[in-house]
Amino acid sequence: MRRKVIAGNWKMNKTVDEAKEFLKEFIPLVENTENEVIICAPFIALKCLVKHTKGTNVKIGAQNMHWEEAGAYTGEISASMLKSIGVEYVIIGHSERRQYFAETDETVNKKVKTAHANGLKPIVCVGETLEQREQGLADEIITKQTKLALDGLTNEQVENTIIAYEPIWAIGTGKTATKEDANNSIKKIREEICKIYGQNVASGVIIQYGGSVKSSNAKELFTTSDIDGGLVGGASLKPDEFAKIVNY
Ligand code: 13P
Repeated sequence: MRRKVIAGNWKMNKTVDEAKEFLKEFIPLVENTENEVIICAPFIALKCLVKHTKGTNVKIGAQNMHWEEAGAYTGEISASMLKSIGVEYVIIGHSERRQYFAETDETVNKKVKTAHANGLKPIVCVGETLEQREQGLADEIITKQTKLALDGLTNEQVENTIIAYEPIWAIGTGKTATKEDANNSIKKIREEICKIYGQNVASGVIIQYGGSVKSSNAKELFTTSDIDGGLVGGASLKPDEFAKIVNY
């Protein structure tokens, strides 16, 4: 049985003080869960969050990183910088980065490789637009994104990669994919991984759903056969609401 992994993506929200306040309320609410809990926060809050989650079951992730190890890349953050402060996860290829910051399948793949080389676990986002879904292209888009993101990885690295299926039309819109649609898309992603890396690897990979997850729909989504938890945006900003999702 695959474990359930529930990750919050805070996006560009919360100051360091607000992040600390969040933890005070949130940690006691999730201390009895068997699910894996991750908070992906803005860079400047990461060190503080790592410090204040030591000894708890809450893990910390970043929302992006550069693919180069170091150098003249003004404004960027490297994988080794994240690793050095105790960050364990990093979101790669979120649709907002693909849309607003020129992230491509190629840069996603480079970042995924660098993350693994530095012992960080990537959470790779894939997902189709509404137009692509309406044209019947969703499966093609998400399997291609998955294949290119994982290109050149070892079986072990693929096993240590989390995929987040996030249909773009469901992000921040209040419009959630039905559990059947989400499950079918995730099955397609798993089949693609199976074709390249074999059944053993494919059946172990964690594939989350993301897009307007909230406490009122978490249970039906996360108890569907192929959905291994969620990547949660807006609803992860409030400790009680995010805790309800974690404890679905
Ligand atoms: P919302 O949960 O706010 O729709 O955002 C989803 C998302 O983009 C998580 O990465």
